[in-house]
Amino acid sequence: MSAPLLEVHDLHASLITKYRRLDLLNGVSFTLDRGEALGLVGESGSGKSLTTRAITRMLAPGFRTTGTVRFDGESVLDMKRERLRGYRARDVGMIFQDPRAHVNPVHTVGDFLTEALVRDRGVKLDDAKRRAVQLLDEVGVRHAERRLAQYPHELSGGLLQRVMIASVLLAEPQLILADEPTTALDVTAQSDVMAILDEQRKARGLSLLFITHDLELANACCDRLAVMYAGEIVEQGAQVYEAPQHPYTVELLGARPSIAERLDRLPVLEYNLEIHEALKARADA
Ligand SMILES: Nc1ncnc2c1ncn2[C@@H]1O[C@H](COP(=O)(O)OP(=O)(O)O)[C@@H](O)[C@H]1O
Ligand SMILES: [Mg+2]
Repeated sequence: MSAPLLEVHDLHASLITKYRRLDLLNGVSFTLDRGEALGLVGESGSGKSLTTRAITRMLAPGFRTTGTVRFDGESVLDMKRERLRGYRARDVGMIFQDPRAHVNPVHTVGDFLTEALVRDRGVKLDDAKRRAVQLLDEVGVRHAERRLAQYPHELSGGLLQRVMIASVLLAEPQLILADEPTTALDVTAQSDVMAILDEQRKARGLSLLFITHDLELANACCDRLAVMYAGEIVEQGAQVYEAPQHPYTVELLGARPSIAERLDRLPVLEYNLEIHEALKARADA
């Protein structure tokens, strides 16, 4: 058995101000193996985003972080500046809830996708463009060449999220941190984007930390689940979905309609009929 790709142990994060101290992460521990997908689930405010920020050392300056974060055996909390840059740019890819907040609105899709390759890796612009087109194609963006010339506002949320996935894959990371990547999308775009992320990470053998408040969705695309509550992981393992132990998990499971119920409430348009049927079939299985 090789060591896990990501190892988080007893991670604490506190926000320290002049007047008070807020303990927001209270000893988070989990591991993620190579090629494995872990769903980190919990209600809003439970500390999921802070956990991803701590893993990439992107917490605001007022935070104090203690504990261990190891990536491929290397202590992330001890990385020097240059190494940290490389870690964020190459080892880990991040996908967020709102893709629009993470693109420059005055840059084209093509600029966005090729920029880092050209600037940081010395790839020639034509080659970078070729790779961008190929990746857009792989994540199901049609007319990829034409898309390169478009601006973010010309793309739907679902399409822009696919561009995000393509940009992350272009960097060839080993680990993807996806923080509520489908939450801002409507339910069909949601399943679409999730399916692509799932397919691509499996094809490439990447590890995924999938963060969501949707236990059912996490269960559908992850090998393992961990449930967060008030800055702690209260339950993790294979039984979380089928036989939850912690009262909070039981509540979380009971709280929301199933994917099938949610789909039933939606008008079915011709273009999404196929996805709709596929999802229903999965939900019924
Ligand atoms: N910069 C901050 N200042 C103060 N409180 C914060 C800050 N960032 C996050 N928090 C608090 O930490 C808790 C966890 O936040 P977060 O990790 O964003 O939750 P979520 O699980 O919804 O992603 C919340 O109570 C939130 O209000
Ligand atoms: Mg969050």
